[in-house]
Amino acid sequence: MKSFQKLPAPGEWKDKLLYWVSGLLLFETLSGLAIWLLPFSVPNQVMVFVHTGAGLLFLAPFAWYQLRHWVIYRRMSLSQVVLTGYFALVAVLAAIVSGLVLTYQALFASRISYGWDLVHIIATVGLIVSVLPHVAILVIRARRPRLAQPAGSAGTSCVSRSSSSSACASAPTSMATTPP
Ligand code: HEM
Ligand code: HEM
Repeated sequence: MKSFQKLPAPGEWKDKLLYWVSGLLLFETLSGLAIWLLPFSVPNQVMVFVHTGAGLLFLAPFAWYQLRHWVIYRRMSLSQVVLTGYFALVAVLAAIVSGLVLTYQALFASRISYGWDLVHIIATVGLIVSVLPHVAILVIRARRPRLAQPAGSAGTSCVSRSSSSSACASAPTSMATTPP
């Protein structure tokens, strides 16, 4: 007999922290791309300061959001969403660590190192190519017409976490019941 466990995940989209963290992540990505790709200019130099300041501000709320996000979803069985989530996590951690090293070098060393700059750029590209599908898959699933559910199961869905156990969530039905 399978056991069922409730996931503490309902209403994630309504969480204000999600909007703050997503906004800051988007800002860091766009401002980073501007620093990297736009020609050298005074506004772009100012952008480096703003980018670094926002990056420092971003650390604590991001760590809190991400820890919570991972605790909620860590037992989900492997899917495209979970896999792209882990790729995004690795990329964002690499961006944060390399960003902190670059900030340290900019403040206390004579120059920033090519290697850490490259890590920061590769992490940025990795983040873009993993976060976009991570969220896009959810958006596409949410737009799909809902499949008919057995009577009594409305609002509750279950997802297999392992061969011996399953988990139920009261929110994202499509995520939990359809294969990737
Ligand atoms: C998701 C988070 C982040 C993304 C996507 C991102 C992306 C980028 C990109 C693409 C660049 C341009 C690199 C270049 O022109 O060579 C850059 C520059 C920089 N970033 Fe970030 N960054 C992030 C977080 C951070 C954090 C947390 C910090 C530090 C607190 C930081 C500090 C810096 C600094 C100091 C530079 C200037 C390096 C230079 O002068 O070339 N970044 N960032
Ligand atoms: C930088 C890393 C990540 C970012 C920016 C991110 C972002 C998001 C966002 C915006 C959503 C939709 C809203 C929500 O449910 O919170 C989401 C959903 C989801 N994430 Fe992540 N995530 C990341 C990492 C992860 C990791 C590491 C996992 C694996 C445990 C994961 C698993 C999931 C799952 C399963 C959903 C679907 C929830 C549903 O069905 O509604 N994510 N993620």
